[in-house]
Amino acid sequence: MVPSSDYRQFSKVLSKAKHIIVVAGAGLSAASGIPTFRGAGGLWRKYNAMTLATPQAFKRDPSLVWQFYHYRRETALKVKPNAAHRALAEFSLSSIRSLHAPNSTFTLITQNVDGLSIIALDDVLSSNPPEPEEQPRILEMHGRLFDVKCSSKTCGYVQFDRSSPICEGLRGVEELVDKNAMDPDIAKTELPRCSKCNALARPGVVWFEEMPLYLNVIDKLVDKADLCLVVGTSSTVYPAAGYAETVSQNGGQVAVFNLDRSDGDEDADFLFLGPGEETVPKALRLKTD
Ligand code: OAD
Repeated sequence: MVPSSDYRQFSKVLSKAKHIIVVAGAGLSAASGIPTFRGAGGLWRKYNAMTLATPQAFKRDPSLVWQFYHYRRETALKVKPNAAHRALAEFSLSSIRSLHAPNSTFTLITQNVDGLSIIALDDVLSSNPPEPEEQPRILEMHGRLFDVKCSSKTCGYVQFDRSSPICEGLRGVEELVDKNAMDPDIAKTELPRCSKCNALARPGVVWFEEMPLYLNVIDKLVDKADLCLVVGTSSTVYPAAGYAETVSQNGGQVAVFNLDRSDGDEDADFLFLGPGEETVPKALRLKTD
């Protein structure tokens, strides 16, 4: 069956759903100015961003990998949540306060590491303080850009650190490259260090070949979900790419929001093509009769 793009019909499904999950990807933050991984935004300097997001790349060239994450950190520090982040944050609170609460759940499962969904939710919560039991949930399954993690297996200390730059060795490095077109080689001693044991630190994100976070919790939520919104992801990276299919197989409904066609969207119940910063607020804020 061809997916529907009827907002009113979607709104009816939304108002009946009790256990909603959102599976988000880089497209959610694109309008905020964070480049996506695939497509036009996927190049950093001359590198495919995905070749740097691996433990091997960090082992081989920690200087280059840190420069890449320094660039992503600095970009994320400059930007703000967009209308899609805000709509999801507002909806998460209103959905757990709605008539079909208290047993309803809403969880945003994001592959993004930029923290923008958390900032958007904090903004909403600051003017609508929640009761302890109604705290909406965001699971950052690929970690957080602003976590700095000790690379020593015996230590593994993680510190949340939004300082800019993350260390003096990385200060101004991006501007330097524009002029020289060469990658600066920063000594390991000048890269971020663990504040506990002084070993080399690494970005606290999940790389390819590493295990995403919260998998047990997520699996339970996916099994229980009766509605899955897939927002701004190419749906090519597992396990996130498989969640919509599981919800569908369990009898739930799936709505995809993407600028373009994405993997598996032909099997969705709803498909809203266009910028998520327009389609998501439109779909979530529409009142049903
Ligand atoms: P991708 O870069 O693979 O996909 C981004 C998706 O967002 C694409 O399908 C675009 O069409 C869509 N898109 C772009 N702009 C949009 C907009 N304004 N509104 C709606 N959609 C838009 O990013 P992800 O699917 O998040 O993992 O990639 C998944 C994972 O692969 C990432 O978390 C990262 C990456 O490599 C790791 O680093 C482990």
